[in-house]
Amino acid sequence: MDSASFITLEDRAGAHNYHPLPVVVTHGEGAWVTDVEGRRYLDFLSAYSALNFGHRHPRLVEAAHRQLDQLTLTSRAIHSDQLGPFCAELTDLVGLDRALPMNTGAEAVETAIKTARAWGYRRKGVPAGEAVILVAHQNFHGRTTTIISFSDDPVARDDFGPYTPGFVAVDFGDIDSLRQALTDPNVVAFLVEPIQGEAGIVVPPSGYLTAAAAACRDANVLFIADEIQSGLARTGHTLACDAEQVTPDVLLLGKALGGGIVPISAVVSRDDVLGVLRPGEHGSTFGGNPLALAVAREVIAILQTGEYQQRSAELGAHMLRRLREEAPPSVKEVRGAGLWAGVEVHEQFAPVRPRCERALETGVIVKDTHATTIRLAPPLMISQEDLDHGVDVIIKVLG
Ligand SMILES: Cc1ncc(COP(=O)(O)O)c(C=O)c1O
Repeated sequence: MDSASFITLEDRAGAHNYHPLPVVVTHGEGAWVTDVEGRRYLDFLSAYSALNFGHRHPRLVEAAHRQLDQLTLTSRAIHSDQLGPFCAELTDLVGLDRALPMNTGAEAVETAIKTARAWGYRRKGVPAGEAVILVAHQNFHGRTTTIISFSDDPVARDDFGPYTPGFVAVDFGDIDSLRQALTDPNVVAFLVEPIQGEAGIVVPPSGYLTAAAAACRDANVLFIADEIQSGLARTGHTLACDAEQVTPDVLLLGKALGGGIVPISAVVSRDDVLGVLRPGEHGSTFGGNPLALAVAREVIAILQTGEYQQRSAELGAHMLRRLREEAPPSVKEVRGAGLWAGVEVHEQFAPVRPRCERALETGVIVKDTHATTIRLAPPLMISQEDLDHGVDVIIKVLG
C-alpha cells in the first residue's frame, strides 16, 4: 500500500479527531523518520516532546527488550521488582518524596486533581464539596471531561458538557491575578504549566514561578506544576521549574518519561500530599506496569547524567538565536526555552498550516498550534547539522 491508500483507509475506518499532516511513516531512527515510499523526514515535532531522546534510542530499546523477556504486567494487586526502584529513582531525580505512576498525561492531571481535593478536605480543612482549584487561562492539560471543563478553547470544550465545577481561571504570568484568587479560603491548589505548550510555547515573565510558588505557600495552597510537555530536559533543565529553582508541591510528568516507547505518566509529590491517598481510592490496571517502569527507569538514568539537559540548553540557544536573527517579516514573535520554540506570525499570515505542509514537502515535520504559531520541538539528540537544516527550512517556509 502507498501513502495515499493508508490515508484513505484511515479516513474511512478511523475517527476524525485529528487533522494529521499527509505523511505515512513506517520507520524511525534518532531525529529521522521514513515514509512508506522510502522518503526521509527530519522530525521537528518529537510527538509533542514524547520523543525527547529521539526515535528508538538504543539504551531505551534495550531496556524495553530486557523487560519484555522478563515480566510485562502485574496490576497493582501484587508488587513488582520495578515499582519501588522507579519511585525511588524518580523522586531522587526531582527532589520530592513519593511517586505514583499512571499511563497518560491526562490521567496524571486527574490524579493530581483528586489528590489536591482530598488534601484540601483532610489536611487543610476545606468544607466537603467546596474545594476550588485555580488554573491558568489558555491552559492545556488533556482531554478528559473534567480537564476540558476548565479549558477556554471552544474546540476542546464545546458540546462536551455538562462540565465539572470547582475550577477558577487566572491570567497566566500575572501574579496579581493569582494573589487575588488565592484570597478564597477554599482554594486547595494552583495547577499550571510552567511554560504553556499548546498555547504556543508561552513563557511567563521571569520570576513568575518563584512568586507563584511563594504566594501558594503563604495561602496554604498546593503549587502543581504540569511538566508533562515542558519537563525532562526539553527546556534545557530537568524541569522547566528548575530555571527558577522552584520545587513544586506536586509535579506531573508524562510524554518523554516513556522514552517514546510506552505510555507512562507520574504524579510526584511531597509525603504529606500524596500520602493522603488510601488503598482503594485511586488506581489503574496498567498504571505502574513493569514494562513501562523499566523504560522510564532508563530515561531517569539518562537524565541523571545531565547530557540531554546540556544539549537542549546549548542547541536551543543556537536555534532561538537563529530564529530571532533570521526571521522574515511575517514573524511577530519567537518564544522559547531550550530546544522548544513557538514562532508566531502576524495575523495576516495565518493560518500557518500551509507553511507546515510546505515544510513537510521539503522533508521537515513541524506542526502548527492554533492558527498563528509553529511549534518547534526537535529531539534533544539531534546533531547541530540536522538542527541547522531544519531551521533553514522553517525560515524559508515562513518567508
Ligand atoms: C501540559 C500537558 N498536560 C497534559 C497533557 C495530556 O497528556 P496526554 O495526551 O498524554 O493525555 C499534555 C498533552 O499535550 C500537555 O501538553
